[in-house]
Amino acid sequence: MSKQESLETRKKDHIDLAFHSRTLEADPRFYYEPLFSGHPSQTDWPLVFLNKQLRAPLWVSSMTGGTAEAANINKNLARACAEFGMGMGLGSCRPLLDSSQAFEDFNLRPILGQELPFYANLGIAQLEELMDRGAFATIRDLIQSLQADGLIIHVNPLQEWMQAGGDAFTRSPLETIKQVLHAADFPIIVKEVGQGIGPAGVEALLQLPLAALDFGAFGGTNFALLEYLRQQGKEKNLHESFTKVGHSAAEMLGFADEIYHRHKGQLACHQLIISGGISDYLSGFWLLSQAPMPAVYGMASGFLAHARGEYTELQKFVKAQLEGLAMARAVLRPRAL
Ligand SMILES: Cc1cc2nc3c(=O)[nH]c(=O)nc-3n(C[C@H](O)[C@H](O)[C@H](O)COP(=O)(O)O)c2cc1C
Repeated sequence: MSKQESLETRKKDHIDLAFHSRTLEADPRFYYEPLFSGHPSQTDWPLVFLNKQLRAPLWVSSMTGGTAEAANINKNLARACAEFGMGMGLGSCRPLLDSSQAFEDFNLRPILGQELPFYANLGIAQLEELMDRGAFATIRDLIQSLQADGLIIHVNPLQEWMQAGGDAFTRSPLETIKQVLHAADFPIIVKEVGQGIGPAGVEALLQLPLAALDFGAFGGTNFALLEYLRQQGKEKNLHESFTKVGHSAAEMLGFADEIYHRHKGQLACHQLIISGGISDYLSGFWLLSQAPMPAVYGMASGFLAHARGEYTELQKFVKAQLEGLAMARAVLRPRAL
């Protein structure tokens, strides 16, 4: 192609792309303010969360363990936490209740270091059963063996119900949570697993002395849908309508904000992990700006998508997240919607 031709092609591209650009809509969540900052020279966003010093307002949401691939994924995630100063919740540590075979998949404290928040994770069904057996010591031993700071309790009635052979709760999750809190001498976090929690549940939880409420909101990975898909051709296929039930992270922040102001800030739980359906830093940045109390934002599938191979892939992704967050701070002002 001659120089003249290539210039012509470029000019034509510009015209075509200009028309494409005109169809884009501006992100309604922000005012764009280009006048008030130079380009950020560093990405650190220091904050104290769960009594530890973070360097980024990000949380690696509870995921996996006990499978062949899990060890690599977890090690990559823990390494990223150590490098970029993020907190981490483990996936369900249920496999460790019966055997120590999968211990190394979960043994991430040596990678993460002592300075960052690191939490074990158990489901409400296991906790109900352990408490009924008077086996609270098993929970404490689990946390000690992992050198975890505390325990995340996941509340997942829809997932269990949709799952073939899933556990049935005999009491309300709130009762079990209160029982565990009463016995525990370590911090407790409560979360859903992708459906979120309604306003009455958020209010009940914020009135308990939890270290944090982790949303596990609707809009991303949906475990009711996931279990539904696993049931192809089986009986529970009749329950698809339940896969569409839940609350987004933005909606849950609205609940938390209303509750916080109605209680004039007098709540026993003071920290939020805003999670569920967040896959990019602009959503994280906007959601953080709407939080009525100290908060980080969490991602599960967003990190998982980059954590299955070489560490460098995850490293590149997290670095880009932090660069994006720093740029957002420089040129964006969040709007209340
Ligand atoms: C592969 C995978 C495994 C998960 N396992 C757990 C788990 O063991 N315990 C738990 O509390 N949540 C678990 N979750 C739910 C996540 O912590 C999170 O609440 C949910 O995926 C929504 O976040 P996302 O939209 O960023 O993926 C898992 C999520 C994924 C993707």
